[in-house]
Amino acid sequence: MGGTKKPKGLQQIHPFTDLHLFSDSSPLVIEKGEGIYLFDSSGAKYLDAMSGLWCATLGYSQQRLTEAAQRQLSILPFSHTFRGRSTPPINQLAQKLIDLSPAQLTTVFFACSGSEANESAIKIAWSFHRSNEETSRKKIIAHQKSYHGSAIYSAQISGSPMMHEHQNAEIPDIIFVTEPDVHKQRLQKETTEDFVERLATNLEDLILREGPETIAAFIAEPVMGVGGVIIPPKNYFEKVQKILSKYGVLLIADEVICGFGRTGNMFGSETFGMTPDIMTVAKGLSAAYFPISAVLTNKKIHESLINLSQKIGLFSHGFTNSGHPVGAAVALEALKIIEEDFIIDHVRDVSQDFRAQLSKISADPIIADVRSIGLMGAFDLNVLDKDSGNKLMHCAQKHSLFIRAIGNTIVLAPPLIISRQEINLLFERLSVAIKKWKNRIN
Ligand SMILES: Cc1ncc(COP(=O)(O)O)c(C=O)c1O
Repeated sequence: MGGTKKPKGLQQIHPFTDLHLFSDSSPLVIEKGEGIYLFDSSGAKYLDAMSGLWCATLGYSQQRLTEAAQRQLSILPFSHTFRGRSTPPINQLAQKLIDLSPAQLTTVFFACSGSEANESAIKIAWSFHRSNEETSRKKIIAHQKSYHGSAIYSAQISGSPMMHEHQNAEIPDIIFVTEPDVHKQRLQKETTEDFVERLATNLEDLILREGPETIAAFIAEPVMGVGGVIIPPKNYFEKVQKILSKYGVLLIADEVICGFGRTGNMFGSETFGMTPDIMTVAKGLSAAYFPISAVLTNKKIHESLINLSQKIGLFSHGFTNSGHPVGAAVALEALKIIEEDFIIDHVRDVSQDFRAQLSKISADPIIADVRSIGLMGAFDLNVLDKDSGNKLMHCAQKHSLFIRAIGNTIVLAPPLIISRQEINLLFERLSVAIKKWKNRIN
């Protein structure tokens, strides 16, 4: 019989992932990385226009990160951060994050993933209200189409319908509001200002209807990544925040994708004028060289946690690997690289080329709603077939390019170290893939 032989046991190791593309074939085995390129087990080389999953922001061959991990592994491979313990790298990293943070955030709690960081942030928000004896403040507001993680609660506060479809249980006290998507949610007769005003008014009405005394926090990504790179109007968060503070509702900024340069500032909160009470970071924190995430809170929240702990006992929360010293050493080095190599300036520079190239492909009527900020961008496919995004993604892969389809939206988030020439190469390959994909559907 012909065909490639499946390595034994693959079905066992690969049963739960995003299978719709690869269900009838072996997974693509990635063996090596170099710069912004990945190599599969046959030696084929791909330009990774998605930084893995929005996370390998400094590419795949940063010797400094490898050495930072090796150094820390040889000094102290593990020590926990419970019951008053810490390590030098975690102390330094906490201080560095506080120094960098946009909104006078003063405390850091470490975790290992974006999902854990967001769930920790919610627990912290609930504790804050409990400390203030506002125990009825339980409800969480999030955007429709948002993505905050895959663990039980982080999936439930994700407004993306795909996060709920397989679930047989709904957790109460989660409310979704319209996402600030100018392309899809603005009414024809509305200006962008009217649109923002409408969303703000709806938010205030909702808070009043539910009762402000029942709402704990609003969690929001500065730019909604997994939702399809939804870029809010510039003054959206300013309006939202005014309403939240009027009613004592905390703002949690989910910076898991936007943090560390993606939008052309260190944090998306800076790009969009957010002053969060709590901020979560992951992915780019270690440039994906180690699983590490963090939750930053402002002083009033920190103090409330201490008060509550004194009253009712320890805030019993944490993971074995919260504050892993190797992750901290890698993250510290990643932050040094971002500063010493002027990565944010670089993102601002090349984002002009990125935007110009995106707008070139928008000349094709099959491409709609092109948008970008910094080095994240997206466009929609103007077609009826709901599987078109996947088909184009597959086609791009055949042309040595990794992109990501979310329904019929294609998202791009290349490593922040991408050069001008590599941006040109990315779009050359994308244009060829689009042409081939179009020929197939016509
Ligand atoms: C905005 C946002 N928050 C949270 C997460 C979850 O992070 P993790 O997959 O590390 O749990 C993601 C993952 O893509 C994300 O995009």
